[in-house]
Amino acid sequence: MANVAIIGAQWGDEGKGKVVDWLASRADIVVRFQGGHNAGHTLVVGNQTYKLSLLPSGVVRGKLGIIGNGVVLDPDALLSEIARVQAQGLEVGPHNLRIAENTPLILPLHPALDKAREAARGGDKIGTTGRGIGPAYEDKVGRRSIRICDLAEPETLSRKLDELLLHHNSLLKGLGAEPFEKQALLDALLELAPKLLPFSEAVWERLDEARHENKRVLFEGAQAVMLDVDHGTYPYVTSSNTVAGNAAAGAGIGPHQIGTVLGIAKAYTTRVGSGPFPTELFDDVGKRLGERGREFGTVTGRPRRCGWFDACLVRQAVKVGGIQGLALTKLDVLDGLTELKICTGYRIDGEVVKRLPAAAGAQAKAEPIYETLEGWSESTQGARSWAQLPATAIKYVKRIEELVEAPVTLLSTSPERDDTILVSDPFAD
Ligand code: IMP
Repeated sequence: MANVAIIGAQWGDEGKGKVVDWLASRADIVVRFQGGHNAGHTLVVGNQTYKLSLLPSGVVRGKLGIIGNGVVLDPDALLSEIARVQAQGLEVGPHNLRIAENTPLILPLHPALDKAREAARGGDKIGTTGRGIGPAYEDKVGRRSIRICDLAEPETLSRKLDELLLHHNSLLKGLGAEPFEKQALLDALLELAPKLLPFSEAVWERLDEARHENKRVLFEGAQAVMLDVDHGTYPYVTSSNTVAGNAAAGAGIGPHQIGTVLGIAKAYTTRVGSGPFPTELFDDVGKRLGERGREFGTVTGRPRRCGWFDACLVRQAVKVGGIQGLALTKLDVLDGLTELKICTGYRIDGEVVKRLPAAAGAQAKAEPIYETLEGWSESTQGARSWAQLPATAIKYVKRIEELVEAPVTLLSTSPERDDTILVSDPFAD
């Protein structure tokens, strides 16, 4: 068995779509294990561009896609995404998409609470995607969630809605937002039931069978380690564990079946939403990275904050995320810069530290310590071998490897799937 888990090593949007698509083409099954429709992958396949949010990338490659129980699922978002890709010519049905029966649902009251909370935070917003992700995970651990399996039991659904509304309507009223009516929610869920239930099953059993049949499984992470609810820049994080270890709990497999863990990092750094970002650039270089890298959020369209590569941060992500190899993306965005900087540590209150501390106050004070490297004037766009790269670009990549303490196993030099330098095959036994 040769499974692979792929996770972001920065704050998300590392260009996962392309790498996941390439890996998906080599896998039999692709599994999402956390997050929801806050994620966004852009897949460029030939002349088609697919924007996926909830659907595992494998469906584009004719593979079986699984949405694991670690995901929070917005039924309307899923059905619209299915309709959108179907309009682009892709077939999606229970034959190629399965959803864990114990997956918690996102209902309209979740984004309502998400937005009301953000509004109440005033200037101290988290900068969430407003999709209801946080409130849906709160309900899961609060044991109030409506899960996809509940759609088959109208009485359970009715009882659970009472409990859910007692909680949510008190909160919404307290925040000055409109409460929800039970009957409208119940009717909507009963209408959704026949559309969703055909996808629902015990996916842990299917994954167990896949293990016995030596199938290759790709666990597709969303967001990234620095947005992990435990290990990220809390509270400016998402509400799930994004580290590879969560692939086991979020899909229903044993930890030893996760396989090789591949991390994805951009050759520089970006972040959407609020929160600390020590290497953020507010000058022309930052602007240039944003423009050349087309740094706008796939889900919300928000411009991304841009900065130098933070090796200290990625090293931390490598350690806590269990990353064994790094896929480095968007190297070509750095073309034409005469000098490049890599952050190797931080100065906090005059002290040098080699990790981002957990305390929010200390994180906000972290000043980057930079190492300067020579840039390159040549184009690296579309390079498919090391020989096609300028010596200074190779030096930059090698220095990253040393500093983050993980090998670069894959290098991506354009959005095109084939513009990739593969150093080693993560699916190899
Ligand atoms: P939430 O996941 O919508 O609750 O948002 C929490 C934080 O995670 C915000 O800073 C979002 O911008 C960020 N976030 C959530 N999903 C993504 C993603 O797919 N890429 C990048 N940032 C994300």
